[in-house]
Amino acid sequence: MSASASGDSTPPQASPGFDDLYARIVASAVLKDIWRAAFGSEYPDEASPFSFVTRTDLTALLHGLALDPAHRLIDLGCGCGGLAVHIARQTGATVVGIDTSTVAIAQARALAKHLGLRSRVTFLESDASATPLPSHAFDGALCLDALQMMPKPAAVLAEIARLLRSGGKLGLTTWSFSEPWRGRAVVPDYRPLLEESGFAVLAYDEPDGWKARQLQVYDLMRKRRAELEVDLGATASGLLLDEAENAPAALAKSRRVRIVAQLRE
Ligand SMILES: C[S@@+](CC[C@H](N)C(=O)[O-])C[C@H]1O[C@@H](n2cnc3c(N)ncnc32)[C@H](O)[C@@H]1O
Repeated sequence: MSASASGDSTPPQASPGFDDLYARIVASAVLKDIWRAAFGSEYPDEASPFSFVTRTDLTALLHGLALDPAHRLIDLGCGCGGLAVHIARQTGATVVGIDTSTVAIAQARALAKHLGLRSRVTFLESDASATPLPSHAFDGALCLDALQMMPKPAAVLAEIARLLRSGGKLGLTTWSFSEPWRGRAVVPDYRPLLEESGFAVLAYDEPDGWKARQLQVYDLMRKRRAELEVDLGATASGLLLDEAENAPAALAKSRRVRIVAQLRE
């Protein structure tokens, strides 16, 4: 869900804002209701994303990555693991999810255990720009609605290039910002950065209808402020309502992008 919930000064090593959010959002019926209303059939309910990822995004990225049961995938900024688990079940691939939020990683591990997937889906608390994982260990990588909040996207892309085998593929959804906003890296176009990091860009799309969906989510959050405050408590609802108030103006200066890139052989 959140494009910006961690605020201006969150260090890359920790996600305190996200810990507060993840501690409350999983049980929030109001939040789910808002996403379902704004996204309609585009909401990938079964994967419980905490993001603006749509069903069409997932289909396009999984088609681009062409994962099979022999493949290993890394999901960077995996949140509470719903998407990682969903993709593991859908493709048969082995998945490692990493995130800086302690709470999210604990929830992700509990989900994998609950579904009997612990041998194939594992989670690790780590910064995406410096993981302890071995080089060239993955066939594919995903980074869904998370790169925009990592202060050094070039370092993250270099880390992904290190983790992927030659010819491995990256699926990415994020927002490109053409002006500074709340500490976001200013990257009007990710293609030069990807090329410099050793990737060939296979697909670079602005998803249909993304802005209307996102604005609708913010509109519904503002309208259901009182319910959200009860459902999420003061800290988590404060983070989301701050985004609902302030992010709409920033969307005019940003563009949502869905990318498939391949590490050059
Ligand atoms: C909007 S959520 C998206 C979660 C998930 N990908 C999804 O689509 O449901 C962004 C996630 O990025 C994580 N994150 C932020 N900075 C990070 C970093 N430097 N390294 C790893 N994860 C990070 C946050 O903790 C949060 O869980």
